[in-house]
Amino acid sequence: MAEASNEVHGPDFKKGCKIDEVAGGKMLLGHAFGEQVLVARRGDELFAIGATCTHYGGPLAEGLMVDCTVRCPWHHAHFDLRTGEAIAAPALNNVTCYKIEKRGDQFFVTGKIDEKFARKPKSTPASVIIIGGGAAGNAAAEMLRREGYDGPITLITADESLPYDRPNLSKDYLAGTAPEEWIPLRSADFYREQKIETLTNTSVTRIDAKSKRVTLSNGRSLDYGTLLLATGAEPVRLDIPGSDLPHVYYL
Ligand SMILES: Cc1cc2nc3c(=O)[nH]c(=O)nc-3n(C[C@H](O)[C@H](O)[C@H](O)COP(=O)(O)OP(=O)(O)OC[C@H]3O[C@@H](n4cnc5c(N)ncnc54)[C@H](O)[C@@H]3O)c2cc1C
Ligand code: FES
Repeated sequence: MAEASNEVHGPDFKKGCKIDEVAGGKMLLGHAFGEQVLVARRGDELFAIGATCTHYGGPLAEGLMVDCTVRCPWHHAHFDLRTGEAIAAPALNNVTCYKIEKRGDQFFVTGKIDEKFARKPKSTPASVIIIGGGAAGNAAAEMLRREGYDGPITLITADESLPYDRPNLSKDYLAGTAPEEWIPLRSADFYREQKIETLTNTSVTRIDAKSKRVTLSNGRSLDYGTLLLATGAEPVRLDIPGSDLPHVYYL
């Protein structure tokens, strides 16, 4: 992930700012507590969240405000203005949510809100198996936990590694400007803490939808309550002279 700059710009929201400076449906960039903060207005309601996208540091103040969300201008991650929650890919982490108070014709950003979003789904499957360890499989596993699903989740991937940031491979990583630690989407510890079992280097070779069972390339079988297919795509292999030369690689 990109390094964050410590420089802050715009008005100091801790000291107060005129409410009229933020028109309805608009956003204003400022700072509080040494961090860039985005204040957005919807009717009479004001929201304050971190202004830097948690994906690759995109400037949310230059993004699009849609209802109670802001969309990052770089790769269109969505954040909930009421909570700071990352609600659509590719961002995985929330931005900070701030307390905002109105006093007279001014507003003040008065502190950070550390609440967790505790949710309890109405009904849940006995277990979930996700086939695919790309961005989609990873996001599905994370969202199940965030939405309060606490049953067993198993993520099965034919890849050798845990889910990683594929788009970066052909850009900063290939150019040598992204260190290797930016590439995994999450650490092994993250999956352990979230109780998401990961099976790498493992293909699903058969799905028996009637008995709700998958067969793996190592001969094991696993039963599931719900099965999620996130098997993505493979690169099209070139069929032209030279395509089998040793310096031709596929990402
Ligand atoms: C080099 C590169 C650069 C890219 N750049 C961009 C970009 O700039 N912008 C952009 O929007 N997109 C980009 N993409 C595309 C983006 O990465 C894909 O859209 C995204 O990876 C799709 O995610 P996915 O989880 O749906 O599928 P995939 O990433 O294809 O993952 C599929 C997963 O399913 C697993 N799988 C498949 N079959 C089985 C099986 N039978 N058993 C077990 N596991 C199985 C695979 O091992 C893999 O883990 C790029 C992709 C690559 C490779
Ligand atoms: S930097 Fe915001 S979506 Fe990528």
